[in-house]
Amino acid sequence: MTRESWRTRLGFILAAVGSAVGLGNVWRFPWMTAENGGSAFLVVYLAIILLIGVPGLLAEFVIGRRSQRNPAGALFRLSGSKSWGAVGLFGVVTAVVLLSFYSVVGGWILRYFLASFTGGYFGSPGAYFGSINFGLPAVGFHVAFLGLTSLVVLGGVRDGIEKATKVMMPAIVVLLVALAAWATTRTGADAGLSFYLDFDAAYLRANFFDVLGAAAGQALFTLSLGVGTMITYASYLGDDHNLAFDGSIIAVLNTGVGVLAGFVVFPLLFATVGELTGPAASGGGPGALFVSLAGAFTQVPFGQVLAIAFFGVIVLAALSSSISMLEIPVAYLVDEHDLERRTATGALAGLVLLTGSANALNPALFDFVASTLVDLMLTAGLAGFLVFVGWVLGKDAVAEFSTGAGSRVQSLGPAWLWSVRTILPLFLLGTLAVNLLALAGVSILG
Ligand code: PHE
Repeated sequence: MTRESWRTRLGFILAAVGSAVGLGNVWRFPWMTAENGGSAFLVVYLAIILLIGVPGLLAEFVIGRRSQRNPAGALFRLSGSKSWGAVGLFGVVTAVVLLSFYSVVGGWILRYFLASFTGGYFGSPGAYFGSINFGLPAVGFHVAFLGLTSLVVLGGVRDGIEKATKVMMPAIVVLLVALAAWATTRTGADAGLSFYLDFDAAYLRANFFDVLGAAAGQALFTLSLGVGTMITYASYLGDDHNLAFDGSIIAVLNTGVGVLAGFVVFPLLFATVGELTGPAASGGGPGALFVSLAGAFTQVPFGQVLAIAFFGVIVLAALSSSISMLEIPVAYLVDEHDLERRTATGALAGLVLLTGSANALNPALFDFVASTLVDLMLTAGLAGFLVFVGWVLGKDAVAEFSTGAGSRVQSLGPAWLWSVRTILPLFLLGTLAVNLLALAGVSILG
């Protein structure tokens, strides 16, 4: 059986952007920005995307295309070592963990999307969220979201993922631009924009390590790094691509959509709520932003139409990411255990149905998985991939980096390898250590 591949270069780029653009951009990014000083966070986040995100993305692409395998198979084959294979397998497990909470949030959004038609939450947005977020209703919508995800993955690389993301991505951008144009021109939007865009150096000085940690975690999450998504997607690529070029485009588009989402969310919050004093500002848990936004929609003319558009965008964005999570373990079972795509997808959907339901029934578990556990696993995973590329692949990685049609970026290969060997993993391991210490209740940062 020949291995699947992308039909077109654009198809690959859109699928990868589809993976990157998701709840990370429209839900977690504005939320983290609100919690970490607005513009101060934005600046650090953009710097980390550039300095760590882009080289990290390229490292995953190099592993994927060179091996033409899922993360576990890739690291094993390229090194011949079972221990490296285990590092890849860790990514496969992380994907299942990620999907187990992502699908619950996806279910919330699906529900908000549907309820926007009927006006279900317009009576009392806060109470509404509280009545659907956990428990049996949440299980039901998690299962529905997981079902949609599985259907696309079932279709395969070309007819499922590529076709779906080719429609979803332009739709997301068009809707977000329209929403941003509307939101930024509302009275009171200025306050939101200045919170978002005016650089606050004093805040950054006072909270440097907190901002750094949050920005680093967010940068990995938003670029889908540290799990092996980008390894898997690049494994369906041929040699005619220049990875450096594609990687840069993907990072730019993803960041663009994240920043654009900020132009929708902040003006809207400030215009309606006046200032960020609600649950969104105090970091009142994972639902804070939805409560505030749903509240905002109830207060404006045509709110229902806007809500349908807004939650519709988020459903699409979440789906194009969740399929990229499910594809990792599916590719693993197909490549390494010779399962049919159908059987693999069914088995994994069954597993995530259970693990996701556990999250949907237990808020404390959900919180732990969605924040702490995911941050730790992504950071550890990406550090592992970087050390692998830097020290095991070495010069071969530069060769892979430079394969494909010529472009200026290719000459950066050696510099890229140097950073992948040294400062980047050190930075990630440092972040990991600080996070682990924090988890153990030790604060070294005062
Ligand atoms: N990048 C996705 C988002 O922003 C989340 C994701 C993480 C997807 C890791 C795949 C792998 O929502």
